[in-house]
Amino acid sequence: MNLPVRLRRLRDNAATRKLFQETTVGIGNLLQPYFVVPERDVKREAKKGTALYQASGAPLYEEASVLARAGCGGLMLFGVPSFKRDTPDQLGEQLVPLTDAAKQLKKHTPSLPLFADVCLCSYTTHGHCGLVKDGVIENDASVAALCTMAVELARAGVDFVCPSDMMDGRVAAIRQALDVAGFTRVGIVSYAVKMASAFYGPFRAAADSAPQFGDRTTYQMPAHNRREARREWQLDEAEGADVLLFKPALTNLDLIRDAREGSDLPLFAYQVSGEYAMVRAAADAGLLDFERAITEQLVSIRRAGADVVVSYHARALAGL
Ligand code: PBG
Repeated sequence: MNLPVRLRRLRDNAATRKLFQETTVGIGNLLQPYFVVPERDVKREAKKGTALYQASGAPLYEEASVLARAGCGGLMLFGVPSFKRDTPDQLGEQLVPLTDAAKQLKKHTPSLPLFADVCLCSYTTHGHCGLVKDGVIENDASVAALCTMAVELARAGVDFVCPSDMMDGRVAAIRQALDVAGFTRVGIVSYAVKMASAFYGPFRAAADSAPQFGDRTTYQMPAHNRREARREWQLDEAEGADVLLFKPALTNLDLIRDAREGSDLPLFAYQVSGEYAMVRAAADAGLLDFERAITEQLVSIRRAGADVVVSYHARALAGL
């Protein structure tokens, strides 16, 4: 054949394939989530095969130092409180597992960046991400509670607070609350585009955060809307977010690409519990190779434009 262009020349051998590789993914691009529980010195997988780790005390600090030595991008901490409450007056106490862990982690692994979730779903009996009055999730009262949470977490030493609640106006309010409290150095990773998704199932079991009535469709986004997604991250950028986060990752690669082209902020994507579980289940059924499939997902998420991926697979890359 008379073919002037033969793309296979670039793929001829391992060395050329490596040389021309456009996208990389390593543990330095990943954040490892943990669910910090009130019991002392715990490390357990919430449910077998989910890679959702509930941890606290020494086992958590040991994992953190292994991850730090391996060059992991940081930890994403979720709190599981010792009691639930539908008013925000005892949030400080409810946050103790998380704030204690943050203080200790900052002593044990001071250089490992700490990100902490800001949301009410695991702290309330109804399991919604905001405060409920007469069956309605109230935006502005919820924002005030989220600000309290963010300041408590900043006080405990986290580097970034990560509001995942999807209330309107919370990024600006949290920024102001942090600044007034003197935490100008604490950043905000905004869950800017978070879909009302079927892929959070395993997480809700681990964080004990499933909604007890209705669903999250009045605050989380419908997967159908691309323009609305753009409005979400544009608003969060204008409100002072330091980082924009997209979630789930695989079903929103196009929206990540939109943001990569329309914003200069760092972008995070969350390879969520259900995305991980799909690969695990398929691999366990002998249908595909786990390591290759999960890596291909991570590469694709990075190729779409995400700088950092929150992934349950980070531990494995650190040999854990
Ligand atoms: C809610 C929250 C959720 C996740 C992170 N933060 C789930 C939800 O909206 O119910 C999901 C993460 C995952 O599935 O891995 N604050």
